[in-house]
Amino acid sequence: MSGTAQDDFRQLYGYPPEGVWAAPGRVNLIGEHTDYNDGFALPFALPQRTEVAAARRTDRILRVHSAEVPSGAVTLDLAELDPERPPQGAASWAAYPAGVAWALLDAGLPVGGADLHVRSDVPTGAGLSSSAALEVATALALTDLYGIPLTRTDLAALARRAENAYVGVPCGVMDQTASACATGGHALHLDTRSLEQRHIPFGCEAAGLRLLVIDTRVRHALADGAYAQRRTSCHRAAEALGVAALRDLPHQGLEQTLARLEDPVVRKRVRHVVTENERVLRVEQLLRAGRLREAGPLLTEGHASLRDDYEVSCPELDLAVSTADAAGAYGSRMTGGGFGGSALSLIDADAERSVTRAVTDAFRRAGFAPPRITTASPSPGAARLV
Ligand code: GLA
Repeated sequence: MSGTAQDDFRQLYGYPPEGVWAAPGRVNLIGEHTDYNDGFALPFALPQRTEVAAARRTDRILRVHSAEVPSGAVTLDLAELDPERPPQGAASWAAYPAGVAWALLDAGLPVGGADLHVRSDVPTGAGLSSSAALEVATALALTDLYGIPLTRTDLAALARRAENAYVGVPCGVMDQTASACATGGHALHLDTRSLEQRHIPFGCEAAGLRLLVIDTRVRHALADGAYAQRRTSCHRAAEALGVAALRDLPHQGLEQTLARLEDPVVRKRVRHVVTENERVLRVEQLLRAGRLREAGPLLTEGHASLRDDYEVSCPELDLAVSTADAAGAYGSRMTGGGFGGSALSLIDADAERSVTRAVTDAFRRAGFAPPRITTASPSPGAARLV
């Protein structure tokens, strides 16, 4: 199959879809590991997106098919969706759309059976939120098909619930909100406590800048313990410090606050979260003032904090960041959960070739697999295409 999502749907199921919906992957400009601490994040949507061609069925069956998965369609009965028993093995990818249907039903929303065909150019496991793109595109398709009016913020919350409760990944709400709510040419300032959003103009191209996305090809698994561990230690630290969430700790007087914590590792985790929230606010101000280049050093500072205090980087990410910066980038950082995935680098438009070459050469010299380097501009969030 190589036509449009619509053509592929028709070929697969023998009838045309009722529509095609799309949701993008995201890059987080700054504000990492803050979303489960009620903090701030500043992601933007990627041009890469996941498309879902879909049509209602008259029964309670959900059939899902992905162009990326060779093993054929997965058939699920809506009445039997159970977070204790998500699809396994070759069908495990179907947990994302199934989880969305489950979350909609669990919220008491009148969703029925559907046939879905998925295709995507969001790289998987690259820290670019391919899961959120699939969840949000599915949620938009199902709610539109069944005439369920949900705000984008509520849609994102349901998609996140699918991932937490059905897929079993304890993520925050940033990825789904970026995918559902971002707008082209803007970064999305997200307050993950109030869910308040501000669209901040982020016109890199007009400013003669480019954003490089360096996929290290090191595949992370967020379901792995390290993410959950960070989350737990943040929640325990908030409790020990008598605040509802680490977001409530002021940046001023941070050292005195940290001195109240016994464990030096927990102190580092808290320091990352508090300083990262502050960086988000500073980057937002610089973007508003059109001083994009000056945001660079804050990106690199954020990376050092993730590497040294939060300890979620890896040698490939560190090499990408240090090499890009040494080759003239304004600033660079890992983006997403970490332990692999992608780095982001803010560079002058005419430095694209030299920075790309420097990073590629450094990876070769270090014996790392070749990175996949692309440029990204802030793109629109989820939408119905057809
Ligand atoms: C992953 C999670 C997000 C967020 C980031 C770290 O992408 O899905 O919710 O916690 O890690 O900022």
